[in-house]
Amino acid sequence: MNYLTPARAFLIVLGLSLAGCSEPEEPAPTLAPELAAGKAVVDKTCIACHGQGLNGAPILGNKKMWGKRLPQGEDVLVSHAINGFAMEMMPPKGGNPDLTDTEVRNAVRYMMSLVQ
Ligand code: HEC
Repeated sequence: MNYLTPARAFLIVLGLSLAGCSEPEEPAPTLAPELAAGKAVVDKTCIACHGQGLNGAPILGNKKMWGKRLPQGEDVLVSHAINGFAMEMMPPKGGNPDLTDTEVRNAVRYMMSLVQ
């Protein structure tokens, strides 16, 4: 008996390629450790407002919204993120006082990296 008809061979190949799709996704291009740490903070805390632009928060990856903010430089952006800004529409440390200054700086660096 011939088990491996062309139709069966096709199904086997199809099965294998579908199996390939269900494998866990590779992480996106490797980030520098500080940016990866920043991304974790952004994904947990900052995204609540910066994901959608709540109250005018500059949206992640939106070059237009970040365009006039970036020239202030990293240190000013970081101090605004740590201390709060715009009558605390941007709350100190994004409203999470448990974050260290370094974590907030990494988060800001990550945000900046998305629009540079
Ligand atoms: C409760 C909502 C909210 C959360 C949470 C939040 N932000 Fe913001 N953020 C804002 C808003 C609103 C603005 C824009 C303020 C303005 O310019 O009117 C802003 C602006 C900023 C700016 C630009 C400041 C400037 O000088 O232009 C930075 C940098 C920033 N946020 C970083 C962060 C980081 C880092 C986190 C997480 C640790 C975070 N934000 C979490 C609301 C938020």
